[in-house]
Order: sequence, then structure tokens, then C-alpha cells
Amino acid sequence: MIANISKSKYFLISALTPLLLGCDEEIDDIDKIDIPEGYMLSAGISTVFNNSSFAYDQDAPWVAENVANRKRFTHGDKLYDDALTQSSGLGPVYAGYSCGSCHRNAGRTKPALWTQISQDADGTPVYGSGEYGFSSMLVYVARKNGQFFQNYGRVLHDQSIYGIQAEGKLQCRWHYEDFEFPDGEKYQLARPEYTITDWYAKYGDTDDPIDPSELFCSVRIPLRHVGMGQMMALDRDEIKRLAAQSNYPEYGISGRCNYVTERGVYDIGLSGNKAQHQDLTVELGFSSDMGATNSRYPEEICEGQTQMKEGSMMGLTYDRLEVSTQDMEDVDFYMQGLGVPARRLGSTTTKVQYQGRQISEREYIAIGEEKFHEAKCHLCHVTTLHTRPRGTTLLAGTELPWLGKQTIHPYSDYLLHDMGSEIMGVGLNDNYRSGLAMGNEWRTTPLWGIGLQSLVNSHTYFLHDGRARNLQEAIMWHGGEGYVSRQIFSKMKKEDRLALIKFLESL
Ligand code: HEC
Ligand code: HEC
Repeated sequence: MIANISKSKYFLISALTPLLLGCDEEIDDIDKIDIPEGYMLSAGISTVFNNSSFAYDQDAPWVAENVANRKRFTHGDKLYDDALTQSSGLGPVYAGYSCGSCHRNAGRTKPALWTQISQDADGTPVYGSGEYGFSSMLVYVARKNGQFFQNYGRVLHDQSIYGIQAEGKLQCRWHYEDFEFPDGEKYQLARPEYTITDWYAKYGDTDDPIDPSELFCSVRIPLRHVGMGQMMALDRDEIKRLAAQSNYPEYGISGRCNYVTERGVYDIGLSGNKAQHQDLTVELGFSSDMGATNSRYPEEICEGQTQMKEGSMMGLTYDRLEVSTQDMEDVDFYMQGLGVPARRLGSTTTKVQYQGRQISEREYIAIGEEKFHEAKCHLCHVTTLHTRPRGTTLLAGTELPWLGKQTIHPYSDYLLHDMGSEIMGVGLNDNYRSGLAMGNEWRTTPLWGIGLQSLVNSHTYFLHDGRARNLQEAIMWHGGEGYVSRQIFSKMKKEDRLALIKFLESL
């Protein structure tokens, strides 16, 4: 625990530095960046040239170059990664013990969805989190009629401190189906079927016991933290203009903004798989994911559960705020101060066989980029956007002007698209609403940094619930507005499909 005085010092210094440095000049001065051979800028002055397993977890140059910023970043990083304990606010029930437990190395911790835990009587393998296992997922729960549960929060808390019972556990059974591309190459998709076991609320714990068969859930794996500051700094008018323009009847594509009310403000949502939040959910993460109360969410998430009352009688206390607003702002600072990995153009000496001749890996990736456009991926995965002039404001009011006036390449329009219900009978529809977003609507996932996920997090599970085991499966799950794109991709020659995937890996 760091004393309050030093924390407020960081706060003051970093709030003042932009004024003292007059950094407006610097921000425009993109030309000063020394771009190493073989790289391309992804997020202006926040671009980092690092392709190690820590590629997502680097401070942006404007953080590294400034003592006060660096200190704040380091402190936020520590708060983000340090495991909370019961005495520092964890629980009583929780889904993760630190932000970094789910967002390992600022990425996407491998989800327990693909970890076998048992098997059914007929031998069908069952996957999910073990009795004490950590799942690294968020499982949104509601009644089948869409109503939320009082006293449980919106996500299933599958872990708990000693003496308290977890709310339930997630199990997953996979259903496989084989498909063929027009050229005869085979591929397979896996559809998850989720069940919640050990459901605490069925025991008549509350005045209103909930039968497990009434329960409905939507599963999410964590999102990569690439470009969080840039997302917060987006020029909202540009996004709204995109929504107005995103209407391509010839391809069946029309995106729209999600709108949500937060802190009394009705505005477009940007973060989360359904763009269901306006901000980086730091306070919500502490409260809903870890059970750490704070000024925005002062009540324990399981307030009202009988076991809480019993715990209180036994002397467990839950009556103080467990994370300070300044600490949460440091976490916000850390996320927004993260650098975005530069795009890697590929080697000029490594050779690849393409249409019967030898070309360089770099040329092959360039062909993949053309194919990405040919398949109309860019109509949703928009390659270039801009940040607004003033940059961002953190949750307690600190301004970050460095994030302003940047040209960025997120490969997303941050809009909602109907991704269909037709593939394997369900498609990507989770029947779960968030703000204006319907069950079949998802925010276009930004693709920057996606090529480094396997290095950073040692797995290649993609899509909101990690059902795609590699990039090709991710594309082949695109239905609804993504249908035409998927069809164009399917009809390509195999070497072009691979080139397109090679291009994704260069992001
Ligand atoms: C139990 C695992 C878990 C923990 C702990 C957790 N997260 Fe997450 N996080 C997720 C999942 C899953 C999503 C995707 C949620 C969705 O789409 O609804 C997510 C999404 C996010 C996003 C949105 C990213 C984007 O691209 O839109 C941010 C920002 C975020 N988390 C920050 C945090 C912070 C900060 C903390 C700690 C205070 C935290 N998370 C703790 C699992 C976790
Ligand atoms: C209609 C809009 C749209 C089009 C067109 C589209 N996508 Fe997507 N893409 C999305 C949305 C929305 C998601 C998130 C779906 C989810 O998570 O369930 C997504 C997710 C992805 C993912 C997974 C990202 C991750 O980290 O989990 C990849 C990879 C991807 N798209 C690649 C492509 C490629 C390649 C093309 C072109 C062949 C394409 N997309 C065309 C909207 C689109």
C-alpha cells in the first residue's frame, strides 16, 4: 500500500505536465518518430516497436519519456497486476483476483473453455473450470426472460473467499461440424453448449430461489488491451458518421452505434464485445469482477445473499471502500498509456511459394492485405480512424492530450453488426441484450495486435467466447452482415486465403 501523499503527488504532477511541456507541438510531430525498417505506425506517437511476448504491455513513448507519466504508469500497472486478497478487498465472491489474471500481459488469458475437466456417462468430454479452478471468463447471467438477478450482480462469480460459497461453475460441451471450402479443403467449427453447475441461488438462499433451468448465460473471454487509450480518444463524430455511412446493401452491411447511459450521460458505447460501455470499466472491473467496492460501486456485488448476512454475523466485514478513486485512475492511466504494437511488414528475404513462383514474405503479406479488401473485411474492420483533438480524460479528471490528433489503424469501426444466427443453427447469436445491442449484434473487434496474441497469451482462441480455435475459424463464423465477406473468402484460392491470414498475423 503506497501512502496517500505520494499518490496525490503523482496525480498533481501528471495533471500539470501537459501544460508545462506545451506538448501540442510534440503531438503533431509524427515525423520525428524513427520508424525501424519493416514496421508501420499503428497508433501515431503511441506506437511501440516490440514483438516480444510483452508487446501489449509496453508503455507508449510519451509515457516512457516523461518521469511523472512513467511513475504513474508503473503504479497503475502494479495495481492492475497485483493479486487482491481478502484483506485488500477481494470477494467475498469474485470472478478474477486481479485485472491481469484475466488480461495477462494486457492480453487475453487462455480461457478454461478448452480445458477438459470430466466426461459424461457416454464419454462426451466436459470442459470448463474445475472446482477451484480459475476460468478467466466472464459469464453474464440472467433469467430466460432477460431479467437480472438481484443480489448476484450481472456475472457469475465462480470463486469465493474462505467460508463463502461461489455462485456457480461453468461447464461447456462442444459440438463439432465439418464443412468444406468450394475447392474441397475441409475445415471444422465447434459450437459451445454451456451449463451452469453448483448454482448457489437454487437452494432457496434468497427469498426468490432461481431454478437452474430458468437460467440463461452469455460467455465472454477477455479482450486484448491493445489501443485502449486510442479507443477512448476516438473522435465520436467520426464514429457516428461511420454509422450513418455504414450502409452497403450490395454486401448486406449496415453498422450502428450502441447507446448507453452511464454516470447520467447518454452517449455511444465503445468498449466491450457489444460496445456496452462508454469507459474502460475500471470501477466495474474492481467491483463486478473482483468484488472490490469503490466510490462508483460502493456495495458488495453479493449484497443481500444469505451467506453475506451469515458472514457478517461471524465477523467478516464488508463495510468500507476497498479501492480508492486515485488508484483506479492510475489503472485507467496505465491502460491508456499502453503502446500499440507496430504493424510488421514481413521479411524481404524469406521466400514463399505463390502461383508457382517465389515471392518474399513481405510481398505475400501485401497480397493478403489486398485480399482483405477484396473480401470487404475493411467495411467493418475499418483500417484508419482519428482521435479527437483534446485526447482523453481519465476517470478522476486528469487530461491526456498525447492521445489527441492521432491517425490510428485499429481495423474496427467500433459499431454493432448483426453477425447472424445461421451457422450450426445458432451462429454468433447469444440472445443477450446490452444497451441497444441485440443478441445477434456484436461490436467489430479491433484487429490491431491480433497477430501477436499467440505469442503474448500462448493461444489462438478468438471471438467473444473463444469458440474459434484459429483465425480461419474466426472468419468462418462470420454470418449475417459478415456473410458476403465469408463467402468471398471461401471462394478464394487456398494460397490467397492463407495470404489473408498471414496479413492478419502481421497486425
Ligand atoms: C474474470 C476475468 C476478468 C477480470 C478480473 C477483469 N476483466 Fe476486463 N474483461 C474481461 C472480459 C471477459 C471482457 C469482455 C467483456 C464483454 O465483452 O462483455 C473484458 C473487457 C474489458 C475491457 C474492454 C476492452 C475493449 O476492447 O473494449 C476493459 C477496458 C477491461 N476489461 C478492463 C479491465 C480492468 C481495468 C480490470 C480490473 C479492474 C478487468 N478488466 C478485470 C474479463 C476480466
Ligand atoms: C459485417 C461486419 C464485419 C465484416 C464484413 C467482417 N467482420 Fe470480422 N468481426 C466482426 C465482428 C462484429 C466481430 C466480433 C464477433 C464476435 O466476437 O462474436 C468480428 C471478429 C473478427 C475476428 C476475431 C477477432 C478476435 O480477436 O476475436 C477476426 C479475426 C475477424 N473478424 C476477421 C475478419 C476478416 C478477415 C474479415 C473479412 C474476410 C471480416 N472479419 C469481416 C465484423 C465483421
